[in-house]
Amino acid sequence: MDYLKIHSSKSLSGEIAISGAKNASLPLIAMTILAKNAVKIKNLPNVVDIKTLLKLLSKLGANCQFSDNSVLVDTSSINETKATYDIVKTMRASILVLGPILARFGHCEVSLPGGCAIGQRPIDLHLKALEQMGAKINIKSGYIEATTPNGLLGCDIIFDKVTVTGTANIVMAAALAKGVTTITNAAREPEVVQLCNVLAQSGVKINGIETAILEIHGTNGKLLNIQEFDVIPDRIEAGTYLCAGAITKSELTLTYVEPKHLGAVISKLEEMGNTFKITKDTITIYPAKKIKPVKIITQEYPAFPTDMQAQFLALATQADGVSIIEEKLFENRFMHVSELQRMGADITLNGHTATVNGKTRLSGTDVMATDLRASSALVLAGLVATKETNIHRIYHLDRGYDSLENKFKNVGAKIQRLKE
Ligand code: EPZ
Repeated sequence: MDYLKIHSSKSLSGEIAISGAKNASLPLIAMTILAKNAVKIKNLPNVVDIKTLLKLLSKLGANCQFSDNSVLVDTSSINETKATYDIVKTMRASILVLGPILARFGHCEVSLPGGCAIGQRPIDLHLKALEQMGAKINIKSGYIEATTPNGLLGCDIIFDKVTVTGTANIVMAAALAKGVTTITNAAREPEVVQLCNVLAQSGVKINGIETAILEIHGTNGKLLNIQEFDVIPDRIEAGTYLCAGAITKSELTLTYVEPKHLGAVISKLEEMGNTFKITKDTITIYPAKKIKPVKIITQEYPAFPTDMQAQFLALATQADGVSIIEEKLFENRFMHVSELQRMGADITLNGHTATVNGKTRLSGTDVMATDLRASSALVLAGLVATKETNIHRIYHLDRGYDSLENKFKNVGAKIQRLKE
């Protein structure tokens, strides 16, 4: 297994090109199941989760040709509708094939995703909505067995909670359903917006895109003709590198980024004393000389994203004053805290709230990545810690960050990927 060796790296400088968004790519790849033509998706990030989903589609019989950040997916050859445990257990977002397969083939078996490091992460809202649309769902020996004896029928769905992949699943199911589906309390994340926009450009009439109430006019089983498109930039990758600029007090410029997807993140970084120069597709951070403390509550988009919580917690360990970070979405998303404490951070955990009791000098040591975003928090800490930091189990990082160590090396960070 690989690990990252990081030495203190102050005043980085230069440009970092942001890759396509992992969390936009996954539903967009699942969406190809709704197409009658081979679909070309460009600007895909080169990360493990994308490869996992393409492997799943290939196992179902689709033809996927991936080359330098693009993929051509032809799902006309799909001859299997069972997503087996061996793949689903490695990536819970595999659940995104449930809606499209059910919509196109009328039957589907998907392994229950099982637990996840950051929380229980149920999919009850996905299943309840599909049942409202006429699906018959059984849970048997760890699998979801779904059929639609009379096809999927449009109806009015109200999500008890905002669910990103739940919204994506139902939007895709509704796209081929008979009649109109409304989704109230829909997720408004940019990744869901792009999915809706691509479907709309492919002939699915959708009202309310970017709002919490979506109205999808199904094609009644008619497959879609989906033209090639570029995946939107990864706002979480971008936010992570902005935090790197802030914590190392470096002026960094991000390119190929969508600033309007980072409103809450930039606003919190401004609160902490950083300033910015922003153009249509670049962001330059001018770091604070003294990092100010911050209060953060994670919420659904457009509020502060839970996927940036760990990175800000690492940054807050270098702030002069007390920071308070509340995690409202997931029940166990503070596993980076114990590793940061081992590096010398002064953090108190109380339920879903982490209090950072002022600035401490971090000292490098061996630490373990526990989940995707926690891993990136440890990288940020390693960049400012004295002595070297070795981050183990970085397969977590490889799931969602494209060429992280090379992007950091290119702006002067002392970071190496080595073999255990
Ligand atoms: C997506 O996960 C993202 N993953 C996550 O990013 C992100 O943290 C999360 O949205 C929240 O923004 C992908 O897009 C692939 P949810 P998702 O359904 O869709 C509860 C990363 O680091 N819930 O919006 O699985 C759930 O327990 C990953 O890139 C139910 O109760 O999250 C949570 O408390 C981590 N029942 C809340 O809703 C359901 O049926 C939000 O979950 C579904 C969700």
